[in-house]
Amino acid sequence: MELGEEVNIVLNTNSVEQLSLFDFKSKSQSKELGQFFTEPTTANYMASMLHAIGNVELVKILDAGAGEGILTISAARRCLKLGNRRVHAVLFELDTGILSALEKNMDRLVKTFISNGGKFSYEILNENFILSRPDKHERNFHISIINPPYFKYNSKSSVYSGATADLFKGNPNIYASFMAVVSSCLVSGGQMVAIVPRSFTNGLYFKGFRNYLQSNMSIERVHIFRSRNRLFKNRGVLQENIICKFVKCEQQPTIEICSSACSNDLAEAEVVRYPQKLIIDGDDLHNIVRIPESAADGHILRLVEDWPSRFEESNYYISTGPVVEFRTREFITAKVRKDSIPLLRMHNVKAFRIEWTGKHWKDVWFILKEGHEKHTCSNKVYVILKRFSSKDEKRRLVAGIYDPKQFKDHLIGLENHLNYIGVKGEDMDLVEAFGLAALFNSTLMDRYFRSISGNTQVNATEIRLLKLPTRDQIISIGKEMQGTNVYEQSTVDKIVQSALNIRDL
Ligand SMILES: C[S@@+](CC[C@H](N)C(=O)[O-])C[C@H]1O[C@@H](n2cnc3c(N)ncnc32)[C@H](O)[C@@H]1O
Repeated sequence: MELGEEVNIVLNTNSVEQLSLFDFKSKSQSKELGQFFTEPTTANYMASMLHAIGNVELVKILDAGAGEGILTISAARRCLKLGNRRVHAVLFELDTGILSALEKNMDRLVKTFISNGGKFSYEILNENFILSRPDKHERNFHISIINPPYFKYNSKSSVYSGATADLFKGNPNIYASFMAVVSSCLVSGGQMVAIVPRSFTNGLYFKGFRNYLQSNMSIERVHIFRSRNRLFKNRGVLQENIICKFVKCEQQPTIEICSSACSNDLAEAEVVRYPQKLIIDGDDLHNIVRIPESAADGHILRLVEDWPSRFEESNYYISTGPVVEFRTREFITAKVRKDSIPLLRMHNVKAFRIEWTGKHWKDVWFILKEGHEKHTCSNKVYVILKRFSSKDEKRRLVAGIYDPKQFKDHLIGLENHLNYIGVKGEDMDLVEAFGLAALFNSTLMDRYFRSISGNTQVNATEIRLLKLPTRDQIISIGKEMQGTNVYEQSTVDKIVQSALNIRDL
């Protein structure tokens, strides 16, 4: 099979009905404990990612944050199906209110094994998984299948602060601590399947965690749910979730990426196998995991990654607007003054232009009083990128062109929800700004960016790592763009793609 081609997925959904033998009826899911229970279809799908374990008498499963035990049940039954008849599970669960349901389910699993000629045993530990740090005395688990709690904690006051500092730097989110301790508990060749937010795959916060994880585990498969809100129906939190399978060994040369809209259409999931170098961006130890949602997005990723240099190597810089409004209230005014300049906010940035009249109810001015220097920027050509898009917005990247002739003053105010791009050590030409804005406003770049980040936020760190065409190509796109007054998506895409010799996306 060729890399980049779709492969068939082996989905184990036939045993979903049999899960009805078990009890999953806890209604009150506690937000504080990060309780969101996995649906049976998803649990079975996760278990179907486990491969057979050879030459082992007793398979040991670790469930960290077990809830009612649905993931252990699916994983143990998968073992049985794969011919591993003796299984022992260790289940950590902090919530005492759920322990009796968990115990009942485990007892039923014991019976299931007996009736299939196998033997299942278990141990429930009503302990805090992170503070117990089982990896310090036991590293003999073959399988771990987890849906850990997700919440950020205070890096100074939380009990979790520093609890995994020996494994990785930073305290990004409790789920990362769970994944780190679990991976440390596994035997060499052990498997971890986790359903977690996508957030760890990019961004500076998780850099230390990614480095730790990727130096210990090989990513084998990532499944992405394209719909942000349908996986955990009662969760009320909108974020992209992924299921990932890791194996404790050196990173293998290929990684499979699959996607489905939600848990209802898992059977139709599209699976594509990629070379690991295309998926893991190891530059500067960022180790970003890029997730193309479809074979077509994989094609775009491949095209763009062939471009000659990264954003920063092209001599561009990107900075975040220096005006943080809540810290500079005394400088901001809704009425024009002699000593004030326009302050550009998110609503002022449109594709290819800046719309600021001073008449829109959100338009404000920045007063040039003492101390303004550290909040203001020189009045010169910039490409301005919005830092946030709403979940309903079609595009992540929206780039406006800031033309200094539009405003007479020698300075301009740029609010913190904007990123501005210029050329290091020189002024950017307007034509180059047109080229760069066209590139950022193109469908090609937007889809490339989506493979890199699942976030609605556009961080300067990620932009710095983007691949770009040569500056000459960008300038020639700019010339074409300036020659047309039509900024429709189809025109932009046509100009960008033809300058870069790209036929179809
Ligand atoms: C997202 S739920 C998943 C439950 C179950 N594994 C499932 O998939 O349905 C996470 C579980 O972890 C438990 N939990 C939260 N913090 C914990 C900790 N520090 N140690 C052990 N369990 C914890 C919660 O009570 C909750 O039952």
